[in-house]
Amino acid sequence: MGDVRKIYIVGNWKMNFTPGEASLYLHKLSKKVTPGKDIQIIVAPSMISLQTLSLQVNRREFKLAAQNINGRDFGAFTGEVSAAQLRGIVDYALVGHSERRYLFYEHDKITREKVAAALRNRIVPILCIGETLNERENGETDMVIRDQLIGGLSEVVKEDMDKVIVAYEPVWAISSNKDAKLATPDEVEDAVRQVRKHVAEVYGEKVAEALPVLYGGSINNSNAGTYLRIEGVDGLLMGGASLIADEFSSIVDIAKEVRDERD
Ligand code: PGA
Repeated sequence: MGDVRKIYIVGNWKMNFTPGEASLYLHKLSKKVTPGKDIQIIVAPSMISLQTLSLQVNRREFKLAAQNINGRDFGAFTGEVSAAQLRGIVDYALVGHSERRYLFYEHDKITREKVAAALRNRIVPILCIGETLNERENGETDMVIRDQLIGGLSEVVKEDMDKVIVAYEPVWAISSNKDAKLATPDEVEDAVRQVRKHVAEVYGEKVAEALPVLYGGSINNSNAGTYLRIEGVDGLLMGGASLIADEFSSIVDIAKEVRDERD
């Protein structure tokens, strides 16, 4: 009997909820959502809510992620929060989310420092990569995937690759993007295959095969099953759908069905 791969369901709450609202929402989620075998549920609240939620959360049910970290550990970096400060509070951190890349001009060097900082502080980085519509239309998707992936991972040694997650999120499919459209299963399968191909070139087939690769972009409870059943997809990273408890919990239920099909 082969091992069943873990399915990751990640909710990125972005800049929503006050700390009080976040606490109530997590409470509501923990009543509605029942975690299943081989399903890892992760929520990424705002930085200001993380500490309170870390005291409240049952880590056997949910893990916490930071939406962002700084790549240095301590020092004169006004307004920033480091992975060293978040150590013990979160288990995961999003790194290189497209909103960080395009709204806050974070290029690959910054992303690479953050990936390294996360690992140094025992936090699993969820490295987000994905092309813009323009890049896709110019036939640059594979090149962008390669550059963001290898750029983000370039300080990671092979031995640490089992502590890294990659999320493929085409920028044009993210719901906050005006004119967002759904990626087709073929587009996702193809991109995820490219991710593993580039990882294999650097770290070998075994590492690439074991790497969890998630998909994100306008996921809801009517398309989650389709995306989760795509060959090579190990989970979902979602924004909008993670802010509605019923929707989030039904997506977790879908993940359980998909997991059972793999048995
Ligand atoms: P969305 O966001 O699910 O609302 O499209 C995804 C993301 O930004 O991670």
